Amino acid sequence: MEQYVIKGGIPLTGEVEIGGAKNAALAILTEAIMTDDTVTIENIPDVSDINALLGALSYIGATVDRIDRHTVSISGETIKSVSVEYEFIKKIRASYYLLGAMLGKYKKAEVPLPGGCNIGSRPIDQHLKGFRALGAVIQIKNGCILAEATNLHGAHIYLDMASVGATINIMMAASLATGRTIIENAAREPHVVDAANFLNSMGANIKGAGTEVIRIKGVEKLHGSTYTVVPDMIEAGTYMAAIAATGGDAIVKNVIPKHLEATSAKLKEMGCIIEEMDDSIRVSVNGKLGKTHIKTQPYPGFPTDMQPQVAAVLSTSKGISIVTESIFENRFKYADELMRMGANIKVEGNTAIIDGVEQLTGARVCAPDLRAGAALVIAGMMAEGVTVIDDIVYIHRGYEDFDEKLRGLGAKIERVNSEKEIQKFKLEVV
Ligand code: EPZ
Repeated sequence: MEQYVIKGGIPLTGEVEIGGAKNAALAILTEAIMTDDTVTIENIPDVSDINALLGALSYIGATVDRIDRHTVSISGETIKSVSVEYEFIKKIRASYYLLGAMLGKYKKAEVPLPGGCNIGSRPIDQHLKGFRALGAVIQIKNGCILAEATNLHGAHIYLDMASVGATINIMMAASLATGRTIIENAAREPHVVDAANFLNSMGANIKGAGTEVIRIKGVEKLHGSTYTVVPDMIEAGTYMAAIAATGGDAIVKNVIPKHLEATSAKLKEMGCIIEEMDDSIRVSVNGKLGKTHIKTQPYPGFPTDMQPQVAAVLSTSKGISIVTESIFENRFKYADELMRMGANIKVEGNTAIIDGVEQLTGARVCAPDLRAGAALVIAGMMAEGVTVIDDIVYIHRGYEDFDEKLRGLGAKIERVNSEKEIQKFKLEVV
């Protein structure tokens, strides 16, 4: 298994380019099969979640042509099955978007239940509630969801919580239903807006994406399109946290500053200097960072996907910080690993109390999930000495060229896969 090995204590400087948003691309690549025309999607991130989803699309028969790392053309004309294999949903939960896409286009879909993951149980009851409201009959059999409809009709759907996945999945099915659909309490994340904009570029009629009420007027069919995915606000926020954590001064390029307002606000509260340009953000630090309190919320609140990374920064900030995770029930698994590096964190239910220590020290730790893994890399760059991170396969699900980009900012980090290489690194950095 591969590891990262990191020598901490180096302030990050220079510039880093942000790629396309993984969570927008996962929705958009699935929506691409809703037309029989060819669709070209640009600025997709070259990460394992995306590559796994493209595998699922090819498996059901779609024509998938990877033009380059960040561009793919897809045609749904050759699809020959509406049934997805379990291996794909195990690899990538977002395969459940195929429910909305195939139900909309073929009025039939069979997708295995996604089950839980490392950060929580992840139910999809709101997705199914929406499909039923649109007229689909839903059966759960042998671990699979079978959705069928003689025809889909518009409906007025009120989500119990602002679910990103449910909003996007229902929006897909409704875009090819007969009549008007209203989704109330819709999620407002930038990747929901991107997924709606892409559907509209294919001829859908969706209004209000980005607000809590989305109105969809069903159309007969969708046509081809060429579309560029929005920059990844979570990748950008992760590098901002890394610059802050190492006391650096660097520019994060190709971002939409508005998408990062909640993250920027918290870093400012901690004492960072945040300079927003049109499509970049400069982060710098002047002296020791201070505490702050965080409560994760649906967008535009503080994003749950940034919670572990900022918690790592708070582990050596002056004072006691309180982090409340209100979206997922198990998103503090990084805390035990940070405590092996000397952090002082007490987790009580969905709250972590972080008492900032003077300095972390390098240790051997394990990435429990995607964002917690990124948090441990940040901690390794803050720590005195060498940190080895196991199970970095989780990190590659959502961060393209993570170690290369960090080396570009001056970090001392290598991707290795043997004890011998770890020892060699340690000898080089002493
Ligand atoms: C998306 O997950 C993202 N994944 C997650 O990013 C992100 O953390 C999450 O949105 C919140 O922003 C993708 O876009 C592929 P939700 P999703 O439905 O859609 C509950 C990452 O690190 N809920 O908004 O699954 C759910 O349990 C990943 O990139 C129901 O109860 O999240 C959670 O508590 C991790 N029933 C809350 O709502 C449902 O039917 C929000 O979940 C659906 C959700």
